[in-house]
Amino acid sequence: MSLLIKNIKKLVQTETATAVKWRAGKDMQTLPCIDNAWLYIEKDKIADFGSMTTLPALDVQTIDANGKMVFPSFCDSHTHLVYAKSRELEFVDKLRGLTYEEIAKRGGGILNSAEATSLSSEDELFETALQRLNDIMHLGTGAVEIKSGYGLTTESELKMLRVIRRLKEHSPLTIKANFLGAHGVPMQYRGHQKDYVDLIINEMIPLVAAEGLADFIDVFCDKGFFSCEETERILTAGIKYGLCPKIHANEMAVSGGVQVGVKYSAVSVDHLEQMGQAEIEALKGSDTMPTVLPGCAFFLNLPLSPVREMIAAGLPVAMASDYNPGTAPSGNMQLILSMACIRYKLLPEEAINATTINTAYAMDIHDHLGTIAKGKTANLFITKPIPSVDFMPYAFGENKVETVILNGKVQA
Ligand code: NIG
Ligand code: FE
Repeated sequence: MSLLIKNIKKLVQTETATAVKWRAGKDMQTLPCIDNAWLYIEKDKIADFGSMTTLPALDVQTIDANGKMVFPSFCDSHTHLVYAKSRELEFVDKLRGLTYEEIAKRGGGILNSAEATSLSSEDELFETALQRLNDIMHLGTGAVEIKSGYGLTTESELKMLRVIRRLKEHSPLTIKANFLGAHGVPMQYRGHQKDYVDLIINEMIPLVAAEGLADFIDVFCDKGFFSCEETERILTAGIKYGLCPKIHANEMAVSGGVQVGVKYSAVSVDHLEQMGQAEIEALKGSDTMPTVLPGCAFFLNLPLSPVREMIAAGLPVAMASDYNPGTAPSGNMQLILSMACIRYKLLPEEAINATTINTAYAMDIHDHLGTIAKGKTANLFITKPIPSVDFMPYAFGENKVETVILNGKVQA
């Protein structure tokens, strides 16, 4: 099937010269666009694009995008969107004054979700997650990373990862699976956490790898969760089985997680609410993408990551949703775009780079997604009529996406 989109008011995030792996530092302000453009899709790929003055004569299905813009789909490189139940009771507990750490200590938080997951069938988890994928697709997301980590037993972790495998088979979104057995310590391992780490290393990782269930391995390396030493042990084991590291680091404290991530060539280190100069220095010259999760910081009223300092130091920054029931119950990447600008003072161009090309890198799909480039997968959206690119983050809370195209097909 072929599809032509013509009269595009602005074709955003085009890549014509040599491909770059990410945008960093000052270059985060670079956002190549073509005004009054066309885009041609053949099968599931972007075949060509250009200015309307060069429109080829093509007798194919055509969409007239007059007044509308075309963006590459958002890549959401950090989510926990397979889960059994929402957690609004804890939300109210927080309003009454409890902290996230206090709730976690008394068995709430991640352990609460783990219990609900153990009681849910694979089918239930699959159906609810598929609905969430459908919802975020219509908000402009075309690729998503999904973590396990609400299992915390071998059986439940495998169940979550099998659900993610089914989602990969059934959803038009591009999906990457991340094994996060080290998300929390189950109650019965309190006081002898080492035994749980051993279980992850000796039992879970080999089984996850044997079934080919995960692309990445993750650890919640933070105060009250897993130490740097434990993180190193888990990552070493995961790498041996071909899993590429991504890390939850520095949400609660300056945990050393950033340095561990860099040491093990993690594709990304995520959260980063607590960052000092040493963390910024550690990231310089590395291949690790610093990833900020504005929805989580907003929901928990956490201090904001020093994103401007990171960019001023020449680093790239990615921004993802962290969609999960405990700390970020929204996968709306348009809202992340707005928060990037309003709360972290990114310019609209920087925010778009942070949620497309840079998140594509952070989930290792930048070869085929994240920009509008010839030969890349045709995952993109057509906006409603909008006056400017700046309108996207400006009109917060509004859905500016009108038509979603994934793998070259218009999605109902
Ligand atoms: O990324 N920080 C750790 N994990 C999740 C929260 C999970 C939960 O509370 O359910 C996060 O914020
Ligand atoms: Fe997370």
